Amino acid sequence: MKKLMAANWKMYKLHSEARDTAEALVKAMKGVLPEDREVLIVPPFTALRSVRKAIKKVPGFALGGQNFFPSMQGAFTGEIAPDMLTDMGCTYALAGHSERRHILGESDEFVGKKVVCGLERGLGMILCVGETIDERKEGRLDEVVRRQMELGLAEVPLDVAPERLTVAYEPVWAIGTGLTAGPKEILAAHALVRSILLEKFGQAAQQMRILYGGSVKPENASEILLLDNVDGVLVGGSSLSADSFSKIVTA
Ligand code: 13P
Repeated sequence: MKKLMAANWKMYKLHSEARDTAEALVKAMKGVLPEDREVLIVPPFTALRSVRKAIKKVPGFALGGQNFFPSMQGAFTGEIAPDMLTDMGCTYALAGHSERRHILGESDEFVGKKVVCGLERGLGMILCVGETIDERKEGRLDEVVRRQMELGLAEVPLDVAPERLTVAYEPVWAIGTGLTAGPKEILAAHALVRSILLEKFGQAAQQMRILYGGSVKPENASEILLLDNVDGVLVGGSSLSADSFSKIVTA
């Protein structure tokens, strides 16, 4: 199983900036991308085409969408369908990112609809879960992650191809704050995610990737990637520059 090194560019970068960063990243990775790593760039929708062009035919690079609406097409102003992402060359999409849960008010059930719809339409789905600082202080990590996963995966067929389902553990208090969860916290949360996957999918869950996200930087990436049950990272701020993200990818 290759480690997934994912760059979530959130609402950053005009299309020309995204193209330049993607081109710089391809250049930086030439000949040095480890065999066991896959790079995933998840730019804003308006940059998908430019990034696709920059990474097309580059082995080990993939493109992802940050979001979509769980329907084939229709009168959903401002939304985008999963087929529009695959049409742009995306092979992955995110669902349940904490910014969408907390800023846009997305419910666990709605996130679950996206996960199953994306899988049905051929996307590899990355379900993001994670607790707020208050939930952690109240000792509710297990309960929150379990609820987000149970509802987020509720309709996923039990025989789903394991490489197409990924969970990203992103503690909300570590996102964009410079605070990274410590090794003990990551180990405990990832073991919990793995156990919930095993309960639902049986041994196939060993082949599902679990990513860590939350202030991953070149300085802490290698330590995080060595931890048990860490099968990659989902990086925000430090993925915006080709220089820092390439250091993370090869960490
Ligand atoms: P930061 O790396 O900026 O903390 O963001 C993490 C994240 O939200 C990735 O999806």
